Order: sequence, then C-alpha cells, then structure tokens
Amino acid sequence: MALKDVLKEKIDAHRPRTTRLAKEHGDVKLGEVTIAQAIGGARGVRCLVTDISYLDPNEGIRFRGMTIPEAMAALPKPAGKDYPYVEAHWYLLLTGDVPTAAQVEEVIAAFKANAKPPQYVIDVLRTMPRDTHPMTMFSTAILCMQRESKFAKFYADGFNKMTAWEPTLDDATELMAKLPAIAAYIYRLKYKDDSPIEPNLDLDLGGNFAHMMGIDPPYDDVARMYFILHSDHESGNASAHTTHLVGSTLSDAYYALSGGMNALAGPLHGLANQEVLRWIQGVYDKMGGKVPTKEDLHKFLWETLKSGQVIPGYGHAVLRKTDPRYASQREYCLKHLPNDELFQVVSNIYEIAPDILREHGKAKNPWPNVDAQSGVIQWYYGLKEYDFYTVLFGVGRALGVLSNLVWDRALGYALERPKSLTTAMLEEQAGIK
Ligand SMILES: CC(C)(COP(=O)(O)OP(=O)(O)OC[C@H]1O[C@@H](n2cnc3c(N)ncnc32)[C@H](O)[C@@H]1OP(=O)(O)O)[C@@H](O)C(=O)NCCC(=O)NCCS
Repeated sequence: MALKDVLKEKIDAHRPRTTRLAKEHGDVKLGEVTIAQAIGGARGVRCLVTDISYLDPNEGIRFRGMTIPEAMAALPKPAGKDYPYVEAHWYLLLTGDVPTAAQVEEVIAAFKANAKPPQYVIDVLRTMPRDTHPMTMFSTAILCMQRESKFAKFYADGFNKMTAWEPTLDDATELMAKLPAIAAYIYRLKYKDDSPIEPNLDLDLGGNFAHMMGIDPPYDDVARMYFILHSDHESGNASAHTTHLVGSTLSDAYYALSGGMNALAGPLHGLANQEVLRWIQGVYDKMGGKVPTKEDLHKFLWETLKSGQVIPGYGHAVLRKTDPRYASQREYCLKHLPNDELFQVVSNIYEIAPDILREHGKAKNPWPNVDAQSGVIQWYYGLKEYDFYTVLFGVGRALGVLSNLVWDRALGYALERPKSLTTAMLEEQAGIK
C-alpha cells in the first residue's frame, strides 16, 4: 500500500481517539502550573501532544516507541552499510511502522523526484553576503520556497479540515527531499570556493548528501546516523515547538520549518554543537596548541563556569542522564576513531565535567547531551567549519518537525494561544503585598 494510503488508514483510526478525549474528557487535569514555570520557560508544563516521539528523563528518546538502538536495528539499511536509510526513518516517524523494502523504495523515489531546489533558491543564496551565517542562509532558502506550497494553494482554493494533511504531506515531502541539496550547496558555496557538486540520484538521501558535500564513505553512514539521531525530541524543544506554533496558525510547512530553524539557531539549542568545538578550540589556543591534559581541562572548565558561561554540550531541560544520542555517537567514535586526538579530549571532558557541574551546583543535569559529541565526528571527516554544524542538525530535525506538522493537520490541532498574566497578578497570587 502507498504511504499516503497507509497514513490515511492510520489517521482515520486515530481521529476518534483525539475527538473523544477532547469532547468527553476535556476537563481531566494533566497538572498545575507554578509561578516558577510561568517565569521559567514553561519547563515541564504538560500541554503538548505528539505520538511521534517521547522523551523519558532517564531513558532518553523513543521514536514511535523504539529506543535509538532498537530503531537502528529494525530499520532497513542500504546494502553493506551500518546505518539505516533516512527514508526508512521518515516512514517510521510518519506512520509508526517499520517499512518494508518496497515501502522504503517509494520514499526514496519521492525524495529523488523532488530533490532539486528551484534555481531561484540558488540565486537567492548567491546574492547573500558570503559571511552570512549558514543557518540564516538555510532558513532563508526554506522560506523563499514558500511560493511552492501545496497547502497554501489548497487553503486559498477552499480549506477542508479533513484533507488538509494531504497537501501538508506533499509540502513536507518536497521540502525534506530538497534540504540535503540546499545544505550541501550552502557548504560548498561558503567554505569550498563556490564549487557545488551535482547530486547523484542513484544514491539514497544519506549517500547523496555525502556525495554533494564532497566527503567519501563512510561519511554517508555518518550522515544517516546524524540525521536520524537529530530527527525528533518530542514537542517541547524550541525547534519542534516553534514549527508547531507557526503551523498552528495554518501557515504552511515552509513558513513553519523556517521558523523552527531560526529557533534551532540559538546557542541554547542547536548552535550548542558548534559552541562545543569553539570552546575546545579555545582550550587549545590557551595551551599554545598543545593537547590539554585532564588537569588543564579541569582548570578550563572551572574558568568557564566562573566567568558565568555554560559548559556547552552539557545539561538538558528534560534529560537527567547521559543522552543516548551522545552514547550512540560515542559508540561510533570508539569503533571508527578511537585514537583521534579530539575524541580523546571530548572523552576526557566526559570523565570530569559531570563532577564539576555537580560541585558547581546549578545544572539540574550534569550529563552530556547530543551536542557534546557530534562535532568530533564531523571534524574527523574534514568538516571543520563548525559554523555549519547546526545546518546538519537542521536537516535531521526537519524529519521530526515535518512529520509532526502532518499529524497536527490530520488531527486538527488548534491555534496555540496560552494565557499571559502580569507581574502584579503573580504577586497577588503569591500573597505579596
Ligand atoms: C540545555 C540547557 C539550555 C537546559 O537549560 P535549563 O533547562 O534551564 O537547565 P537547568 O534547569 O539545569 O538550569 C539551571 C541552572 O543551571 C545552569 N546550567 C545548566 N546547564 C549548564 C551547563 N552546561 N553549564 C553551566 N551551567 C549550566 C543554567 O544556566 C541555570 O543557571 P541559572 O539558574 O543561573 O539561570 C542548559 O543545560 C545549557 O545551557 N546547556 C549548555 C548548552 C547546550 O548544551 N545546549 C544544547 C541542548 S541540547
């Protein structure tokens, strides 16, 4: 059965559950909101719904109920490769099913048919100053394709709530298919003397991305792993939430994803993976290029904290243990680059940072998150332009947030509109005279 038909069946089966919960059980309480939460970024407020992934504070992410190792083992892989097709993961996120080989082929074909960005996207990128941040370029490229939106046309021609997910799926597929080529184009334009590489449409998404970046295997497997690991982290993180929020106004996938990417560009979110390497580079500079010992790192970590900065790549708003996405990438490093100098430094930081953060006493989670490890792998394969790392994160994150947008439309999730209060109202509620 075609992906759209599978989804239609799933959506038809799911809708009565959502309708029933809203109509018959709408008054059931999911929690209370404290003043600390209202001031503190709504941390932990239970007011979003998604079935695509769930983040357990101690266990980490599950994609459609599967842990990272389970998903990596179950999803089909290209022949001779260690990591699954990104296209298979897209199918899993959208439908909740592990696809058959034929079902993966259908996604591969759909992505290939839509892989080439329109020429005007290239033209827009080329007119931007070359020192523009690659995330600004990436978000601009996505936004300027908004005129392609099937959903926007569907809305203009007479909106139908029951079928609105279909043009959203078309937009999501067309966008997802183009993101690797856009990302690689930005990379080659900015950092490789404007030498773009034509796509090789015989390859899958991961393989073609590595090819367009100009990096040899096994970087194709790194791309597959990286995009899958970064795809989704339930709905409350800033890039997912922004995409959902913008989409909730019935803006289309282009507007919504561009917004989500702007959120990802912040240093407390996706930009942290570039910050990790910048920070380590700072240690090297201080040491006059010498590899820092554990003692040096100990000193430098404390200096960072005492100057009021955060240790990049450590801590998390929800997780309370080592991020399994960190663990998965560490496993890759132990297999492929165990003796790499930078990996050793990152490993040494892993050995000392949690104790230091505990002693410092602020971070609720002293353990590393995904960003602490990802830059090392990219660096090892020659991708040393760390400004670019958030774009890689963005291509991966699009898989999750776009799948969510399709389901937002399918289940008719409402326009978001939380209520704000004034400081005086909080003081009154707290009994402050
Ligand atoms: C991820 C992050 C933004 C989560 O923020 P959060 O939910 O507010 O985290 P916490 O509740 O643990 O924060 C409590 C305090 O600990 C501090 N803290 C958290 N992580 C820290 C870290 N890695 N280094 C130093 N201090 C940290 C916070 O800045 C905060 O300090 P404040 O009370 O003076 O404002 C935060 O841990 C962070 O800034 N980490 C470094 C950046 C990073 O790796 N981001 C990528 C996330 S995937």
